[in-house]
Parts: sequence; structure tokens; C-alpha cells
Amino acid sequence: MSPDNIIVMNKVFGILLVGLTAVLFNSNSIGSVSVEDAIQKRIEMFKSSKANIKNLRKLIRADDTTEAVQLLDFHIKWSEEMPLLFPPGSEASTSNGSDASSDIWDNPIGFQNAIKQYNLKSKDLRKSLRSADSASINENFKNFAGTCKGCHKQFRN
Ligand code: HEC
Repeated sequence: MSPDNIIVMNKVFGILLVGLTAVLFNSNSIGSVSVEDAIQKRIEMFKSSKANIKNLRKLIRADDTTEAVQLLDFHIKWSEEMPLLFPPGSEASTSNGSDASSDIWDNPIGFQNAIKQYNLKSKDLRKSLRSADSASINENFKNFAGTCKGCHKQFRN
């Protein structure tokens, strides 16, 4: 083969490789979302989470455990879906409006564990709200809110 032909072959191969990568990447992200959408969506979810926890605190102070327990559904669901909204490449940059620390991807087990704690403490709080035992409600609310702060300290810039 002449050197010119080899260059053409290499180009064709390069184009095929890029095409294949694009196909794999796209099929991988079916059912999930683009990096930009993931960032927007998770910021929205965190804002709802903040509004929710404010209401939750009010309802607990007012001893309205029946209403309060329903607010826990959001946190349990969100704690299960959260990993889907942290795709690789979505850490904070100067242009994407995110505060996500790169430690999320450097320490994936630590991040998963922080999510797990959030999930477990949400369930504990739900349980004590159902039992309407005010001492355990207060204790579990504190632990639950502590999982927000714990994760922020470690994984939010
Ligand atoms: C497992 C980790 C983790 C847990 C648990 C967690 N957060 Fe966050 N939170 C983050 C990260 C990471 C960001 C930054 C997201 C971004 O900017 O891309 C964030 C951002 C936020 C923001 C800022 C959103 C904005 O306006 O930009 C709020 C408010 C917030 N979280 C509230 C909460 C509350 C309330 C809880 C608990 C009920 C909670 N978070 C639990 C990791 C967590």
C-alpha cells in the first residue's frame, strides 16, 4: 500500500471510531439526560428539597405528623434518583452554574454513602412520624437534616 493510501485508511478508521463512540454514547444516555439538563434538574430538585424541609419543620413544630409524613415521600424518591443526575463531566465549571465538587467523581463511594445516609435518615424520620413519638421525631429530624449538611460540607463547593 502506498503511504497515501495508508493515510486515507487511517482517516476512514478515525471517522468510524468517532461514529462508533457517538453511537455508544447516545445509546448509553437513552433514558437519562444530557449533562446540562442533569445540572438544571438537580438544582431544581435541591431547591424543592429546601422548600420541603422548611414546611416539614413547620409541620413538626405544629405536631401535624399526618401532613409531615407525606413530605418524606419526596426525600425518599429523590435519594433514590440522585445518582442519575450526577453524570461524569457535570462538576462545577465557570460556565455551568453548578456547585458540585469534583470530589463527587474522585470519591464515588463516599458520595454514594452520603446519598445512602440521606435515604436511611429519611426512612427513619418517616417511621417516627408514623409512630408520632415526639422525642424520636425530633432526634430523627436532626439526623435527617444533618445528612444534607454532611453531604454539602464534603461534596458542594
Ligand atoms: C449526597 C449529597 C447531598 C445531599 C444528601 C443533599 N445535597 Fe444539597 N446539594 C448537593 C450538591 C452536590 C449540590 C450542588 C449541586 C449543583 O450545583 O450542581 C447541592 C445543592 C443544594 C442546594 C442549592 C441549589 C441551588 O440553588 O443551586 C440546596 C438548597 C440544597 N442542596 C439543599 C439540600 C437539602 C435541603 C438537603 C437535605 C434534605 C440536601 N440538599 C441534601 C449535595 C447534596
